[in-house]
Amino acid sequence: MRSRRKKLSNNKARTLIAQINPRSPISEQYRTIRTNLQFASVDQDLNSMMVTSAGPSEGKSLTTSNMAVTFAQQEKKVLLIDADMRKPTLHYTFRLDNSIGLSSVLIGDYSLDQVVRRSDLDNLDLIPSGPIPPNPSELLGSKAMKNFLEIAKNYYDLVIFDTAPVLAVTDGQILSSLCDGVLLVTRSKQTEIDAGKKAVELLNQVQANVLGAVLNDVEAKNSNYYYYYGS
Ligand SMILES: Nc1ncnc2c1ncn2[C@@H]1O[C@H](COP(=O)(O)OP(=O)(O)OP(=O)(O)O)[C@@H](O)[C@H]1O
Ligand SMILES: [Mg+2]
Repeated sequence: MRSRRKKLSNNKARTLIAQINPRSPISEQYRTIRTNLQFASVDQDLNSMMVTSAGPSEGKSLTTSNMAVTFAQQEKKVLLIDADMRKPTLHYTFRLDNSIGLSSVLIGDYSLDQVVRRSDLDNLDLIPSGPIPPNPSELLGSKAMKNFLEIAKNYYDLVIFDTAPVLAVTDGQILSSLCDGVLLVTRSKQTEIDAGKKAVELLNQVQANVLGAVLNDVEAKNSNYYYYYGS
């Protein structure tokens, strides 16, 4: 048992609470965020969305994966894509081989159906980042990316992207203009208010539809219920 745990942590494997414990208060908070996102996009179909944050390590990848699971549990056909082609993690989380993925499709080597993987959940499919390219922003802004997303949207109710932080690189801004909505993750005691504002400003500059923000990693008060807030 001990050696297995060590092996998984070496692999940077992660556990998704929305999947392993859907009845927990934290999973309930993810469902609240799902409901709020659906209300926030009431006038428009939410067929594609991306999750980003101002800076690094604020919880984008964890939030994206848990949200993808939470939408899939609502019987929506969901495709989760790792569009953080700088620090990809989806292949660790879902224990996938990352030798082909999004970057392989965008450079024209593979098609969507060749890189898509099934998850353990009925309604959740996955595309890892693929090999890290030298030019992630150009790939995300390419015609190939637009075509890829159009095809993906035909097959899935929701396409959800994990991305790189918006203050660091332009990837998030570029992708946001292709997506129906953007969810901004902030981390308690980490995200500076000015950085959060700047991130929203950058997204607004490209007419992104910022649906709301998640305050991640809030200290639990008495009950775990306060772990996550969605707004
Ligand atoms: N609410 C939380 N409680 C405990 N640990 C958390 C929480 N949110 C994130 N973490 C941990 O913090 C680290 C960073 O989280 P994550 O990888 O989701 O952030 P990120 O914004 O995607 O980072 P990056 O900018 O590197 O892509 C991970 O080890 C993750 O497990
Ligand atoms: Mg990440």
